[in-house]
Amino acid sequence: MRESIYEMNEQYKNLQEKINVFDTTLRDGEQSPGVALTVDEKIEIAENLNILGVDKMEVGFPISSEGEKETAKKVKALELDSTICGLARAVEKDVDAVLDCDLEYVHTFIGTSPLHRDYKLKKSKDEIKESAIKIIDYCKDHGLTIEFSAEDATRTEWDFLVDIYKAVEDAGVNMINVPDTVGILTPMDAKSLIYDLKQELKVPLSTHFHNDFGLAVANTIMGIEAGASQFHGTVNGIGERAGNASLEETIMTLISLYNHPMDIDTTKIYNVSDFVSRVTGINLSQNKAIVGKNAFAHESGIHVHGIMENANTYEAISPEMVGQTRRIVLGKQSGGHAIKGKLKEFNIDLNQTQLEDVLQHIKSLGDKGKSLTDDDLKAIALSEMNTLEEKFVEILGLSVSIGDSVSPTATIRLMINNEVKEKAAIGVGPVDAALNAIESLIRDTTSFELEQYHIEAINGGTDALGEVFVRVSDGEGNVATGRSANEDIIQASVQAVLNSVNKLLMIKKELKQ
Ligand code: KIV
Ligand code: ZN
Repeated sequence: MRESIYEMNEQYKNLQEKINVFDTTLRDGEQSPGVALTVDEKIEIAENLNILGVDKMEVGFPISSEGEKETAKKVKALELDSTICGLARAVEKDVDAVLDCDLEYVHTFIGTSPLHRDYKLKKSKDEIKESAIKIIDYCKDHGLTIEFSAEDATRTEWDFLVDIYKAVEDAGVNMINVPDTVGILTPMDAKSLIYDLKQELKVPLSTHFHNDFGLAVANTIMGIEAGASQFHGTVNGIGERAGNASLEETIMTLISLYNHPMDIDTTKIYNVSDFVSRVTGINLSQNKAIVGKNAFAHESGIHVHGIMENANTYEAISPEMVGQTRRIVLGKQSGGHAIKGKLKEFNIDLNQTQLEDVLQHIKSLGDKGKSLTDDDLKAIALSEMNTLEEKFVEILGLSVSIGDSVSPTATIRLMINNEVKEKAAIGVGPVDAALNAIESLIRDTTSFELEQYHIEAINGGTDALGEVFVRVSDGEGNVATGRSANEDIIQASVQAVLNSVNKLLMIKKELKQ
């Protein structure tokens, strides 16, 4: 029998033993359009990344500003476990700025593609190669560990790329990074590029792949499959334009799909992601892998049923593994299992009929485009619990009219002790008019006085459910409360009052017996 892909994959997942995680959230990530972090925010991110366990973090481009320098110095002074790196162009003053921050690891780069040579640097291949060698010598003379990038490597002529990488290798570079600066690699290209470079070079290789076509993580994984022993990534994949390879997606792919051990505390992933999202103001799409709000959310009845039997049925990894929590979302796709499971969490126990009524209510709200929160469910369930099975008074119809310079009017049709009765009444507002109509309709059955009326919107928004709580008395010492939840506050009010009236009538009936 043919093995599943899941099992087959094991055969070729032969990666370098140690894959270094090089985080560049504070450098390439901060280059995201519109993002400007304060020194304190950057320090907080660095501390979070250290807790996560990244091997190296690039904390900025020290030559570019005093703030960048201050950050690099302060992060370095924290003496974190992660290696702290600063970016430098292949010019001495940039390296000096890195040295000023007391950093021991430099990431130096120079553009190598024809576009960068001709339009940006206006230098020949030989001049660029010479600058690269010179800067490696300079860094070495100052005792730095050196990572070198040929910027726009993927649009650089192959022969020149190998030539410059070999030259810096000979000069003593410690790590060669391969930037796909404008994200034009495909996964197959990424694999053959790293594989071919690996045949030419002895120094360990690193990837730095941008996400312009949404392929950064796939390309990074292919690069690692081909022999790269380090990858650059950013939290939430932020970075220039469409960003970089997402750190969390790459890490989790390596751990979960490649079974590759990584020295990362994956349970911290969500916290770091959430923090970065808040301070950068870059909101995550809900369906973002691993850290998105919906990454572990389930709505459809079939899925929720499966999840409740065994979470693996519809989850590739457990939410706890990445510090997330599973969410059962209630909506029109929900089934009884989801509702029952949720209510159990809130210690609310409904009978089958009540459960079905709650489910119908939720589905009808879902059809109107509303997805429900836990608080909505609690309110609906409590209002269902508040509804007696034996009803003396039941609503058959309600219409309300309001307007300018006329009194609000409500017409209500009720079934009272098996008799249909209808009445219209006016009031100071539509709720008042509806309650006046009820009062005059049931006057012959019981007197009742509204002692307390309380309405609350559950969660914000104009489509929020309104939860109404009332307390009524019959003037003879009998008191009853009622509650109801509905997206229409007039209906919620009427139903809450009728629930309380039914209870009042039940009390009176029991007293007579
Ligand atoms: O994308 C890129 O080419 C870079 C370089 C600085 C390495 O970020
Ligand atoms: Zn980049």
